[in-house]
Amino acid sequence: MTVSSELTHQKQRAFQPQKLSAPRNFIVPNIIKGDTSHDSLVLEIGAGKGKHALSFAAQYPERHLIAIERTRNKFDAFAKLAAQQQSPNLDAIHADAVAWIVHAIKPNSVAKIFILYPNPEQHNPNQQWLNMPFFEFLLSRLQNGGEVVLATNIEAYMDNAEQQATNIWRLPNERYQVANDSQRTHFEVKYLARGEVCWELRMQKPKGYQTRFDNWQMTVLN
Ligand SMILES: C[S@@+](CC[C@H](N)C(=O)[O-])C[C@H]1O[C@@H](n2cnc3c(N)ncnc32)[C@H](O)[C@@H]1O
Repeated sequence: MTVSSELTHQKQRAFQPQKLSAPRNFIVPNIIKGDTSHDSLVLEIGAGKGKHALSFAAQYPERHLIAIERTRNKFDAFAKLAAQQQSPNLDAIHADAVAWIVHAIKPNSVAKIFILYPNPEQHNPNQQWLNMPFFEFLLSRLQNGGEVVLATNIEAYMDNAEQQATNIWRLPNERYQVANDSQRTHFEVKYLARGEVCWELRMQKPKGYQTRFDNWQMTVLN
C-alpha cells in the first residue's frame, strides 16, 4: 500500500524535535552506534519495573530491546533486576522517552514499539500518546511494516486511540481483548486480577508511509 504525502496527520501541528534538550547524562547506546549486531531493534515506552522488558529480552535473544522508564523508583527496581538478569540484548534507560527517542533513535530503524498501560491522562487527553504531535516523530523512527503495540484497561483511551490510528495517523490497525491469563506487566496482572477488561491495539506502518521527520536526525548520531 502506498500512502499519499497529503496525509491527514501532516495537517496537524508539527512536533518540534529541535527544541528538546538531551536527557541528563545522555549517552548513545552501543546498539545505536552499530557496535553490536541484532536482527531487530524494539522500543518499550514506560516500562515500569520492567516485567515485560525482562521476559521479552530473555524470550527473543536475537532482538534488541531498549526499555525506557521515567519514574525514578520504578526505574531503580527495573535496573536492579536487569543487572541480575544480564541480558546483553536489553538496555534499561532512565529518561523521558520523548527526549530520549529524539536524541537517540535514527529514522526508519525500529521494528516494534510497545506502549503497555500508559498513564490514562483522562484530564489531559493531549498527553495521550496518539494525541501528541510527538506520535508522528515516533512513526518516523519505525521501519516500513513496523508495529506499535498499545495496551490499556481504559476503554475510552482505547476507543480514542483506535480512532486516531485510523483517522489521523492512517495506520492499518487491529484491536483485541487481552487474554485473561496474560501476565506481561505488573499493571496487566493487577487489572486482570480485578476482573477488568484489558484492550490491545496493534498498528502497522505501511510501505510508502511519509512523515515530516523521515530525514530528521540529531547531528550527534550522524
Ligand atoms: C501505568 S504505568 C505502567 C507501567 C508498565 N508498563 C506496566 O504495565 O506495568 C505507566 C508508566 O509509564 C511511565 N511513563 C509515562 N510517561 C513517560 C515518558 N514520557 N517516558 C518514560 N516513561 C513514561 C510512568 O513513569 C509509568 O511508570
